[in-house]
Amino acid sequence: MRIDVVSIFPDYLAPLDLSLIGKARQDGLLDLHVHDLRSFTTDRHRTVDDTPYGGGAGMVMKPEPWAQALSAVVEARPEGARKPVLIVPSPAGERFTQALAYELAEEEHLTFACGRYEGIDERVFEWAQEHFEVRPVSLGDYVLNGGEVAVLAMVEAVGRLLPGVVGNPESLVEESHSDGLLEYPVYTKPSQWRGREVPAVLLSGNHGKIAQWRRHEQYRRTAERRPDLLEGFDAGNLPRADRSELHVLGYDIVAGRLVRRPIG
Ligand code: ADE
Repeated sequence: MRIDVVSIFPDYLAPLDLSLIGKARQDGLLDLHVHDLRSFTTDRHRTVDDTPYGGGAGMVMKPEPWAQALSAVVEARPEGARKPVLIVPSPAGERFTQALAYELAEEEHLTFACGRYEGIDERVFEWAQEHFEVRPVSLGDYVLNGGEVAVLAMVEAVGRLLPGVVGNPESLVEESHSDGLLEYPVYTKPSQWRGREVPAVLLSGNHGKIAQWRRHEQYRRTAERRPDLLEGFDAGNLPRADRSELHVLGYDIVAGRLVRRPIG
């Protein structure tokens, strides 16, 4: 996969040289290019922002440096590749989820446009639609100072799904959000630590019981921490033991979907 990132703070993306993503780059699994937006300016001060039309606080990013930078990316795109996705990190975008990470991991080429200040002149996105599939994406309902931190998160979430990046692909299967639930709790040696014991079932060697315990822990955790994930969860084919666990947690199955029982 090729990834291009355009930012006025290219150094912010330096952590992408480290750890699994850094290794994926070294191994040629991920072809990542970071571009300094200011290198696409033509004035002496390398200006990238100006005051907003209509007034108001803050500055807006000028359109021309963005058009120049994104045109350079389009020209460098892999031969024969289809229209690349342009991800614009923004608190006003669609929510970034594991499902979106899986979707983006199927692409050949992703481009990230890191805005700063009050944002990028809207006409850039109208123009960019000719060359890119433009997708404003938000990490969550809070405001960062710019898109760089969001790009670090998204490149890591997408990059680790590329074939060969994570050594043991099984670890991608049993993790939070891979099946719409949160992950079960995990334990390691010693089995007794500061007066606390590992749940006995995990020492039993009974793989069926262990799998059931883990699944039930997933339900419990998800009900406690993220009940929104359970609402509407596809429960059509769940074993009877799972259904009764969910019933105890306050959920019924209606037309194959989980529905929270009204309290009282
Ligand atoms: N830029 C600023 N805030 C952001 C957010 N919540 N998600 C993605 N990009 C952002």
